[in-house]
Amino acid sequence: MKKALIIYATREGQTEKVAHKIRDHFVEAKLETSLHDAKTIGKVNLEDFDLLVFGGSMHIGGIEKELVSFINDHKEQIESKPNAFFLVLLSAATKDPVLREEWLNDARKRVDKQLITKFNRIEMVAGALKYSKYSWPMKWIMRMIAKRAGEGTDFGRDYEYTDWKKVKEFAYSLI
Ligand SMILES: Cc1cc2nc3c(=O)[nH]c(=O)nc-3n(C[C@H](O)[C@H](O)[C@H](O)COP(=O)(O)O)c2cc1C
Repeated sequence: MKKALIIYATREGQTEKVAHKIRDHFVEAKLETSLHDAKTIGKVNLEDFDLLVFGGSMHIGGIEKELVSFINDHKEQIESKPNAFFLVLLSAATKDPVLREEWLNDARKRVDKQLITKFNRIEMVAGALKYSKYSWPMKWIMRMIAKRAGEGTDFGRDYEYTDWKKVKEFAYSLI
């Protein structure tokens, strides 16, 4: 049986949710799959796996440090196997296609700057706006950004923009 490894990092939980969904699709497709949070990962031997998938989210242009360190510390092993990286971010949910393209290009440049490891595939995944998890100043800042992006501005609720059909297509395209 083919073996897949998924390692993710998250700040507000959406990347974890996406990583679990990808795991479920791999399991459906009969892949033996290990899933780890980069924060708590112990020793894993990447050589034991046939497919390596990493996922992180973007905060002020940066990917979680614990994930970046893991990926860059294992550059040779990762590049020697089928691999993919998915980035969860709000820019991917921007309504205006021109602005979305501009923000996603910028995000892509930031990924290339932070990750010295080269991935076969990089997927941008629309994330979530979780006002319930933000501090008051952050709620206001995020609302300003959300307004510009055409996303939700009601503090009283959270908004999920992840397209689960696309996540499924992404997962199956890697198998
Ligand atoms: C403080 C903060 C900064 C953020 N910065 C960015 C950013 O630079 N670009 C972007 O597209 N999304 C940004 N986002 C949105 C997150 O990427 C999005 O909410 C994502 O779903 C978070 O994933 P996580 O729950 O796995 O951490 C930011 C969110 C917060 C709270």
